Amino acid sequence: MAFLALASSVEAKVKIGVIGPFSGPFASQGKNFKAGIDAYMALNGSKVGAEEIEIIYRDLPQADPAQAKARAQELVVKEGVQYLAGFYFTPDALAVVPILEQANVPMLVMNAGTSMIVTRSPLVVRTSFTMWQTSTPMAKVARDKGIGKVVTIVSDYGPGVDAETAFKTAFIGLGGQVIDSIRMPLSTTDYSPIMQRVRGTGADAIFAFLPSGPTTLGFVKAYNENDLAKAGIRFLSPGDLTQESDLPALGDAALGIQTTFHYSVSHDSPENRVFVEAASKAIGNAQELSFPAVGAFDGMHVIYKMIEATGGKQDAAKAVEAIKGLIWQSPRGPVSIDPATRHITQNIYLREVSKTPDGRYINKEIATFEKQGDPGLAAAK
Ligand code: PHB
Repeated sequence: MAFLALASSVEAKVKIGVIGPFSGPFASQGKNFKAGIDAYMALNGSKVGAEEIEIIYRDLPQADPAQAKARAQELVVKEGVQYLAGFYFTPDALAVVPILEQANVPMLVMNAGTSMIVTRSPLVVRTSFTMWQTSTPMAKVARDKGIGKVVTIVSDYGPGVDAETAFKTAFIGLGGQVIDSIRMPLSTTDYSPIMQRVRGTGADAIFAFLPSGPTTLGFVKAYNENDLAKAGIRFLSPGDLTQESDLPALGDAALGIQTTFHYSVSHDSPENRVFVEAASKAIGNAQELSFPAVGAFDGMHVIYKMIEATGGKQDAAKAVEAIKGLIWQSPRGPVSIDPATRHITQNIYLREVSKTPDGRYINKEIATFEKQGDPGLAAAK
């Protein structure tokens, strides 16, 4: 008896496959996935009921749909994972969606922000944000500041197109004008020519989106170095462009930049203090903490609830059904999973890059747009 009990407890293991950029230029974003997962397991244990949870990481340095699919297949077939999670870039999430149903595996999107991903399969759940969700409030902020003419500048792929369309739709709806829309290849690294092009347009502001990483750091630096602010051209964007880990490198030049986003490392709540302490410990350097960590932390919360509901048995449909309408206090604030869309409903905050008395750069929350769903889902249909 004792031997049998021991044997079955050894076998009771649920594996979660996590795909993200753990090396290369976006490695810090992947490190944040891992920090969020480690923090969750440090605070909540590595077991759900009798099931021991094992995380298996697969590195995907850049957006690469073919490799994303290959890694997901390998995780499902060879490793026997019951859950797929991570997905920093939209094209990677989209490439994996077609295997979910047959593999009987739910997908937890911990970052990718293009609205339509959740519409591609009933087994997709998202705990990050969408570009529509974070960019729409910025249009109102801009109009309230009296900004009338804007040039949009985005990376030319899913989330960039979504950010551009979301901002345009809301901004024009509020009486603003978009006088030029620039889409840049994802591979663009020299942003000065674009900044120069904007200077001649008579724009009051740019609205920009690029995926967080070396991309955003280079872009905001180029905005500063080309003296657009001095030329009276303001900076509008979702918070991807001022992630906390980039702020020390941007320095005082970024002070005063306002962005709209679902999470700030400086968010003032008991849940966030506990999270930041655990995630800082996990990542080893508090200054490297950024938003993918909270997407991963909450993604783990959802997976734990799924494992609880299924008793550790592989049943993707039942797992997803169980978390529809789930409500909890995230480090980012109050959140829930919209039962109709399987996307996260959350506050979006207006934040301003600021310096604390002890010299740290933060995104200081200055206003809240409560309980935002995803306005992009209507457009994605
Ligand atoms: C995406 O590819 O969906 C993506 C990547 C990085 C971001 C936002 C969205 O900061």
